Amino acid sequence: MSHFPATKNDLILRAAKGEKVERPPCWIMRQAGRYLPEYHEVKNNRDFFQTCRDAEIASEITIQPVRRYRGLIDAAIIFSDILVIPQAMGMKVEMLEGKGPHFPEPLRTPEDLQIVLDYKVDVLKELDWAFKAITMTRIKLDGEVPLFGFCGGPWTLLVYMTEGGGSRLFRFAKQWINMYPELSHELLQKITDVAVEFLSQQVVAGAQILQVFESWGGELSSVDFDEFSLPYLRQIAGKVPKRLQELGIKEQIPMIVFAKGSWYALDKLCKSDFDVVSLDWSWDPKEAVTINKDRVTLQGNLDPGVMYGSKEIITKKVKQMIEGFGGGKSRYIVNFGHGTHPFMDPDVIKFFLEECHRIGSL
Ligand code: CP3
Repeated sequence: MSHFPATKNDLILRAAKGEKVERPPCWIMRQAGRYLPEYHEVKNNRDFFQTCRDAEIASEITIQPVRRYRGLIDAAIIFSDILVIPQAMGMKVEMLEGKGPHFPEPLRTPEDLQIVLDYKVDVLKELDWAFKAITMTRIKLDGEVPLFGFCGGPWTLLVYMTEGGGSRLFRFAKQWINMYPELSHELLQKITDVAVEFLSQQVVAGAQILQVFESWGGELSSVDFDEFSLPYLRQIAGKVPKRLQELGIKEQIPMIVFAKGSWYALDKLCKSDFDVVSLDWSWDPKEAVTINKDRVTLQGNLDPGVMYGSKEIITKKVKQMIEGFGGGKSRYIVNFGHGTHPFMDPDVIKFFLEECHRIGSL
C-alpha cells in the first residue's frame, strides 16, 4: 500500500503470481527463531507470547534473518504463531519452554465446545497487537523484502484446541471428527471465519503475501481431508480476496497453502484458488510439477534435515531440488519442506541460501 516504503525486491510476489523471474526467490519456514543466537539474545527468557505481543521485539526478531542473510532471503515472515487464533477465540494457550504449546483447558466435550462457539470474537480488538507488529515491521523493513502474514489451517487449529498441545495419536481430534462430525464442522467454520478476517486485516496492517499452515493435514485420510480440511482451506482462499476488496485493498495479494503430509491432495490444492502450493519433502519435485500443470507456483521442498549434512551433499540436493522444479524457468519458490530446527547452524543455512542463488541463477 502506498503509505509504506516502496518494495525494492518483489521477486517473491512476482513468482507467486506466475510471472517470469530472474531466479527462484528464497525464504525458509520458521526462518526467525531459535537457531539464531540473536533471537535468544533479544527474547532474553521472556515468555513466547509476550515476545510476539511486543511490536518492537517481534519486528526486530522478524528482521533478524533478513539482516543476517542480506541479499539471500527474499521475504520476511512476521514473528507470531498459529495459536493466536485460538487465543482470540477465548482459549488460554501457554508456550512451555522446551516443550511447546499447552492449552490448560482443551475442548473435550460438546459443552466445552459450546463456550467457544458462543464466544464473540472481535479480531481487530483481540489481535490488535499482531496488526501493530506487522505495521511496525513493514515500516522498519523499508521495502527491502515483502512481509508475510500467516495463520494456521482450521483443521490444524482444531487439533491443538482439542488435543491441548502437540500429539502423536491425535486421539481427541479424531474422536471429535468421528463422534461429533457436525459439531466439528461448526468449530472448523468458526475458525475459518476468524482466519479470513485475521488474514485480511494483516494485509490492511501491511502484510504483502499470506501463508496458511495446515501442518497436521497429513494426519487425515484423503477422504477426511476432503471433508475436514480442504473445504475450509478453499473458503479461506476464496473469501480473503473478497474481504480485501471490501476493505479497499486494490492489489492482488498472493496466497500460499502448506498442507504438510497431504500428498494425496496436491491436484485439488492446485485448483483451490491459492496462488502457491507449498510441498513437504516427501514429493519428488518432477512428479509435483507434472501434477501441477503450471496452475500454481510450487514452493519447497528440501528436507530441513539436509542442513545437518556435508557441503557436498547440500549442494547436490539443492541442485536436484531446483532442477526438479524446473529451475528459473518454472513457477517456483525455494523453501524447506518444513521449518528450521533449533539445532541448525546459521552458517550452514547461509551456505544453503548461497547455493540456491548460484544454482537458481544458472
Ligand atoms: O520465522 C517464522 O516462521 C516465525 C513465526 C512462526 C512461529 N511459529 C514462531 C515460533 C510461525 C510461522 C509459526 C507457525 C507455527 N506454530 C506452526 C506452523 C508451522 C509448522 O512448523 O508446522 C505450528 C504448528 C506452530 C505451533 C507451535 N509453536 C509449536 C508446535 C511450537 C513449539 C515447537 C516448535 O516447533 O517450536 C511453537 C513455538 C514457536 N513458534 C517458537 C517459535 C520461534 C519457539 C518458541 C521458543 O521456544 O522460543
